[in-house]
Amino acid sequence: MNPFLFVTDLDNTLVGDDRALEVLNQQLEAHRQQWGTKIVYATGRSPFLYRQLAREKPLLPPDALILSVGTEVYLEPAKEIPDSEWEAILAQGWERDKIVAIANDYQELELQPDTEQNTYKISFYIDQSVAAKILPQLEKELSQSFAIKLIYSGGQDLDILPANGDKGLAVQFLRQKLAIEASKTVVCGDSGNDIALFQGEERGIMVGNAKPELRKWYEENRKETHYLAKAECAGGILEGLQYFGFLASVS
Ligand code: GLC
Ligand code: MG
Repeated sequence: MNPFLFVTDLDNTLVGDDRALEVLNQQLEAHRQQWGTKIVYATGRSPFLYRQLAREKPLLPPDALILSVGTEVYLEPAKEIPDSEWEAILAQGWERDKIVAIANDYQELELQPDTEQNTYKISFYIDQSVAAKILPQLEKELSQSFAIKLIYSGGQDLDILPANGDKGLAVQFLRQKLAIEASKTVVCGDSGNDIALFQGEERGIMVGNAKPELRKWYEENRKETHYLAKAECAGGILEGLQYFGFLASVS
């Protein structure tokens, strides 16, 4: 066995099946102790909501953290200070106040709570019934003046992020910092904000309960480094880690 970089989304990917989480945790922790494997969470949650989940579920302490849809990277999670080099990359072409002013003109957008907003992330709710019409207009208007990207997840959450930021680009940054190759990295997810994770050369596991937007993307972009699991949540992750040979299969 060899060490690997394990990157996973939390909601409905790592978390969602308590018993499977227990089994996976036990195997990952043993692998970390024995081989030096690194465990990283890449979630849409803010620090506030991440801490809440960490109180509710038995999450292993991570070696690094990617929060707020990739707009905050923590190389030393215990210090709770986001990486400033990453922030400087996000700042390019980003003008938060002006972007908010434009987005506020769209009546269909409802602002998410304050805890879910940060310097490099502006988040709204927008109903699926109007999203397909409104989001291309919003994207076109914002892109004329700013380096942004829109990410729509779970048929309700809209994140406006810097063009240089998302979960996948945050993983590339982290991989460079840790000097770990793509072939020794595995990423796991279930929804729209995880699509960016699967756009690199890393091994990618989509859990069996993946949301329609991720399934659709997979159908259109699948490649040999992707694996769509049969099992849900942590059970699907375990299945994928065995499929790629990161963990030994149990017979
Ligand atoms: C999490 C965040 C929210 C974001 C969503 C999708 O739920 O709390 O702000 O919109 O993930 O990325
Ligand atoms: Mg999720």
